[in-house]
This record gives sequence, structure tokens and C-alpha cells, in this order.
Amino acid sequence: MTIQAVIFDLDGVITDTAHLHFLAWKELGDSLGVEVNLELNELLKGISRQESLEIILKETGIFDNFTDVERQELAERKNRAYVASLESLGPQDLLPGIGDCLKDLKKRGIKIGLASSSQNAGLIIKKLGLEPYFEAMVDPRSLSKGKPDPEIYLKAAAALGLNPAKCAGVEDARAGIEAIRAAGMTAIALGQSLEQVPADYHLSSTRDLAKVNWDDIVSKE
Ligand code: BG6
Ligand code: MG
Repeated sequence: MTIQAVIFDLDGVITDTAHLHFLAWKELGDSLGVEVNLELNELLKGISRQESLEIILKETGIFDNFTDVERQELAERKNRAYVASLESLGPQDLLPGIGDCLKDLKKRGIKIGLASSSQNAGLIIKKLGLEPYFEAMVDPRSLSKGKPDPEIYLKAAAALGLNPAKCAGVEDARAGIEAIRAAGMTAIALGQSLEQVPADYHLSSTRDLAKVNWDDIVSKE
């Protein structure tokens, strides 16, 4: 059996907002006198805003300098900087191959879903002009656990009315690939940093998504 739906991560898969998240965290770190470098940033991919902040504060040894309320304010400050950096985001910012991939899936009647940990996902999908493609978008506020827990992928499959085994997930982060596999879906990993992470398919970049023959992508059922 081939797959009946493809469920996408957003940041770093559909558009390069993963880099904008990094810049916003780095700016916050600079203001607190700690360094958020690319290595630390790898631990944040796919992880919720509040959890990402906790990781940064713990890894840089300043977690206990703040109360819960102050930590909440720090997360909000990062989000304001991040949302400001989305100002000029538009259809020109789709990663290479994504537009063709979505068109191809739609043409084949394969359903398309979104499983992003970002509370800004709805805004971003709208700015990119992709709303007509997505039949289901999970609101991360509705989750009890974030990636690598499978909950977000299971909810996306349920919203599409499909058994998870009939879906594939596409991710650029380890936590996301683990979530897809735990959901029992076919896992498609993007990028060099995931080469060693177990997945069903490894593609070097989003460009390769446009070349996938979806009839060859086997479902788990
Ligand atoms: C994920 C990103 O998609 O969304 C993370 O990979 C980010 O880096 C998370 O922290 C939450 O995003 P937001 O927009 O709700 O702060
Ligand atoms: Mg991502």
C-alpha cells in the first residue's frame, strides 16, 4: 500500500523560519549575557517555545536566576522579536521544491496535514499563501506533550480521518522524526544533520521532495 497523506513539519521544512527562531533566541541570549550558538540551537528544533527557553537557561547555567513569571516574560520577548522578523515573509520564502511537492500531492489526491509545534504556524501558513493545501493543522496549544511524543502526529492523522499507518511525516529535526516513528507513520527525514537518525527515507534537502514519486512511498499498513 502507498501512503494516503503526508503530514509536514513547518519550521525548516516548508520555509526557513528555523533560522529566524535561532536569530530571535540568539538576540535574547545576548541580552542576558549568554551565548546561543548553532550547536545549542540544534537541541531546540521542534521543541515548544517554553521548553526551548528552559533548555537555553539550563544549558547556559542561568535557569535559577529567574522566577516562573520572569521566564514567561522572556519567552514572550523572544516571540515578539520572532514575530517581528516574519514581517516580510511571503510566498517567495517557500523552501525549494515545496511548492511543486504540495501541488503534486494535491493532484494525486494525497491528503496534506501540518504538525508544527509553533503557535505561529497558522499565521505563517497564511503569509506563505498555503492555506488551500492543508486539510488539517494541529493547534500545538491543544497538546499535552510536545515532540518527540507522537501526540501531534496522531492528532493530525485523526483530523484527516486516517489510520496513522497510512500517513507519512516529513521533518528536519530529530525530535520530529522520533514523533513520526512513535506514531507508526512512514518517516521522511530532511537534511544532513539527520543522516544518522533512523527513518524510512533520508532526503538531502527539500529540493528532493519535488522529485519523490509518491507511488513509491510505502505505508506501514
Ligand atoms: C517549532 C520550532 O516548529 O516551533 C521550534 O522548530 C520553536 O524552534 C517551536 O521553538 C515553537 O514555536 P513558536 O512560534 O510557538 O514560538
Ligand atoms: Mg522543523
